Amino acid sequence: MSGLLAGKRLLVTGVITDASIAFSVARLAQENGAQVVLTGYGRLSLVERIAKRLPEPAPVIELDVTNREHLAALGDRVREHVDGLDGIVHSIGFAPQSCLGGGFLDAPWEDVATAVHVSTYSYQALATAALPLMASGSSVVGLTFDATKAWPVYDWMGVAKAGLESASRYLALHLGPKGIRSNLVAAGPLRTVAAKSIPGFEQFEDAWSARAPLGWNLTDSEPAARACLALLSDWFPATTGEIVHVDGGYHAIGA
Ligand SMILES: NC(=O)c1ccc[n+]([C@@H]2O[C@H](COP(=O)([O-])OP(=O)(O)OC[C@H]3O[C@@H](n4cnc5c(N)ncnc54)[C@H](O)[C@@H]3O)[C@@H](O)[C@H]2O)c1
Repeated sequence: MSGLLAGKRLLVTGVITDASIAFSVARLAQENGAQVVLTGYGRLSLVERIAKRLPEPAPVIELDVTNREHLAALGDRVREHVDGLDGIVHSIGFAPQSCLGGGFLDAPWEDVATAVHVSTYSYQALATAALPLMASGSSVVGLTFDATKAWPVYDWMGVAKAGLESASRYLALHLGPKGIRSNLVAAGPLRTVAAKSIPGFEQFEDAWSARAPLGWNLTDSEPAARACLALLSDWFPATTGEIVHVDGGYHAIGA
């Protein structure tokens, strides 16, 4: 098998529809020589149906990242399909409605805790659950939405993403001695299930369309997926704790 990821074995989380960023990652990874195992959350039969639309049908393992039993069993479940992992993709985010859409001042701690558990802590939880399968040279990649700024309507999800960005740096710190990298892709707005659950998400869409110097396609997750592939590949061997912006250049431009 040839391609950027020839012979690599990847665990890809976060597929729920074919608009999911994770779906593009899985598709491109297979097209570039990787063997892909998916995890699915909640509507497993839907994920299994979507998995059949990949170039190669991929096995789906059930994983709720907040479920200790699922995390404890992950290694054995993955070994049913591959004998190790060269990369993990964390493409998971969730916040209760109270945490989004301008709810920053009112969201209760229980809801904020859920957002941080699923969207932030899970990065460490997933990586450590899969750690026994990974050798030196492996790569962990996650998805963020630029958390250096406060965005209208993103609210506690923005705080969770700031935590994720820090968690990725700490993972880089702690897994670096094992030769394992941790990097994030900061994607611009894409019309996925997660994005549509944010009340007022169209504000991002309008801002990006007006300001991104390269322009921005709200329905094309391939640019973000390509960056994930690059970070999973052997072409960033000395890069860790990094955040690569795939946002049409929006982050670099003042108002
Ligand atoms: N869409 C955007 O505009 C955008 C921009 C930047 C970053 N991101 C990030 O990209 C990642 C993927 O999101 P997406 O936009 O592809 O949306 P998506 O809705 O397709 O994917 C989100 C995934 O999170 C999963 N998930 C939620 N709770 C979970 C849990 N407890 N355990 C396991 N999985 C769980 C869902 O099942 C779903 O597959 C997220 O981290 C998101 O924040 C999205």
